Amino acid sequence: MTSTVAEQVMQTGRAEELAAMYEQINTKNMFPFWAKRADVEHDDIKQLMEGVKAIPFQWSFKRDLEPLIQQSARLITHADSDRRSLVLVNPGLKPKRATVSTLYTAYRLNDPNEVMPPHRHTASAIRLGLTGQQNFTGVEGEDIVFGHGDLVLTPRDTWHNHGNVGSEPAINLSVLDYPLVETLNALQFEHDYKEDGQLKKKQTARFSSDYSARMYGSGGLTPRFIDHRRGVGGSSPVYVYRYEAIRELLERNKDWDGNPYEGLQVEYTDPVRGGPVYKTMTFFMQMLRPGERTLPLKQTASLLVSPLEGKGQCIVDGQTFDFEPFDTIAVPGNSWMELVNTSATEPVILFIASDENVLDAFGLLQRFGKTAGGEVVRLV
Ligand SMILES: [Fe+2]
Repeated sequence: MTSTVAEQVMQTGRAEELAAMYEQINTKNMFPFWAKRADVEHDDIKQLMEGVKAIPFQWSFKRDLEPLIQQSARLITHADSDRRSLVLVNPGLKPKRATVSTLYTAYRLNDPNEVMPPHRHTASAIRLGLTGQQNFTGVEGEDIVFGHGDLVLTPRDTWHNHGNVGSEPAINLSVLDYPLVETLNALQFEHDYKEDGQLKKKQTARFSSDYSARMYGSGGLTPRFIDHRRGVGGSSPVYVYRYEAIRELLERNKDWDGNPYEGLQVEYTDPVRGGPVYKTMTFFMQMLRPGERTLPLKQTASLLVSPLEGKGQCIVDGQTFDFEPFDTIAVPGNSWMELVNTSATEPVILFIASDENVLDAFGLLQRFGKTAGGEVVRLV
């Protein structure tokens, strides 16, 4: 239909006024949130959704991480900084320090006999030993020395200091709920550790170094003669979970059918309250038997997958990541994921961090699986 000259003038005027309005909306820090066709310039919903999504991504330990970890240890000395961590930044979330939307993973090398001063923060963290047998973390007066595969908790607001008490360099990874806590505007740090009003570089031990294992190491048996509220409470009172125990549990059950979507998976739990060790994130160790391939799983939870043993593939939305020990793969929520052990003889062991308990707490956890026949089934 042809328009009259008057209508054409009106449309031109409207286009100019629209452009001016969008300019004003932007200048005055507002966002135009109304439905638009996909082909128009201001398809803002699409832009918003595309701009802030974590993407599936892999950091290779050998290729990407190890050379830079070694170099940073050489160039950034203890005198330069109390911390020396490489945080994995998801390209989809840049510049936000986040590996998936709620969590981040960081790697760190500690030189022999290097112990950083204590600090505390409202973000909770775990550390997982990768190399070296004498990684060190002091947590609220429990001095923990740990090695490959051992998991150490530093719950929110607990004073902790990291380091290495061995004669060889030690590398470990951390997972923090930092992006979630930052989103909730609850992030705080403190660095001045004091005992009796005096600044201290190291915490004085107040518990035996085997306290966690001694009090909680017998599954199903809870001592009634100690206070289980450690630190500010609300987290597991066990500050170290040894690899040996969880590895042995997996080994003992390697002939069990397992779960078709997750192979053999074991969750780290709080022995007093039950459930995950933190309210903000949870952790698993998973075995894939030689040749095992999981069925596709899609969930609203985001995962950080870090292999500890073996080689295989993590397939996320059709993209194949070949993994080796100590890599990290970001698996954003709502991605289809499959895991493959490509070896016919060796098991794969994966350390996995997840925000599933946060989603569950808000009624937002959904899990779907694909059957061997390709049918999509709701799991949770
Ligand atoms: Fe810390």
